[in-house]
Amino acid sequence: MITITLSNSRCISSQQYSLPNLLNLCKLTDNIRNIASTSEGLKYLKTILSDKRAILYFKQASTRTFLSFENACHILGISCSEIRDTSTSSEIKGESELDAIKTFSQYVDLIIMRHPLSDFIYEISDNLPDDMRIINAGSGSDQHPTQALLDFYTIYQYGLENKTEIKIAFVGDLFRSRAVRSLALLLNKLNNIKLYFVSPKTFQIKSDILEQLNVPYIETNDFNKVIQEVDIIYMTRLQNEYGGINEIIDTNKYSINSNNINKLKDDAIILHPLPKRDEIAVEIDKDKRAKYWEQCRNGMYVRVALICDMFGLNDINLLKNKIY
Ligand code: CP
Repeated sequence: MITITLSNSRCISSQQYSLPNLLNLCKLTDNIRNIASTSEGLKYLKTILSDKRAILYFKQASTRTFLSFENACHILGISCSEIRDTSTSSEIKGESELDAIKTFSQYVDLIIMRHPLSDFIYEISDNLPDDMRIINAGSGSDQHPTQALLDFYTIYQYGLENKTEIKIAFVGDLFRSRAVRSLALLLNKLNNIKLYFVSPKTFQIKSDILEQLNVPYIETNDFNKVIQEVDIIYMTRLQNEYGGINEIIDTNKYSINSNNINKLKDDAIILHPLPKRDEIAVEIDKDKRAKYWEQCRNGMYVRVALICDMFGLNDINLLKNKIY
């Protein structure tokens, strides 16, 4: 019998997580993956939240976040509804988004939401009851905390706790990358990290993030130099959907391909939140250092662990020792 205690009912921004929270989530994810590795374990996981219902309300395009959350819910036995195209909901009749979401809260236990506006997630959080679970699956160009959690888990797998220093380069369109913003804030909880923000001047990360950093960091446009120095490269695509920048840049200078991959350390890893364009050449997919497909899979399991935690199933040993 699993005891359900009310854990944190919101996942809104990276700032809310402490380092112990993050490491516990990584360990919980490891245990869940272990359980999910057998057919019996998968059957057990399908029972643990089978009395819960969720809605996926996505007002921006998504492949990974939507599907990994949907599959995370399936793994836990949670029934899912979805609204991706609001022309099929009563919003088309003039219903406000807030009213639509208040309606969802009458039907489900968990709302997973992606929205083009940065602040709307806070409005929703403020207007729904405290015990309604709400997950930010991307809020404009501001935050993408669950992407950051899965990135953090991938870095944890790389050996986060055993290394004296890890140098991580964020490369590309840092101005509009919610994934970079959220991950930088999580990595800021560590004491063995140095960050490199590599971009043309117009695409530099916004100062509100830099002002929150306690870890050492540098800003540069010299990717050729940085690629040789770092342990982790986190690539990003041009995020034109947010507009705001008209400058045409030479994206070749901020890409990984057969011309520069040999400069990268043998034990380094390449991450990308995806979707990617030409900033990573197709041939790099086969390189052992390319970990972005593993990131996708990690995302599903981290989201299983996050949902468990939000419903109070966060006793790692309870899950580990459960006879199923
Ligand atoms: N990384 C990410 O958020 O991908 P999607 O936009 O496909 O969900």
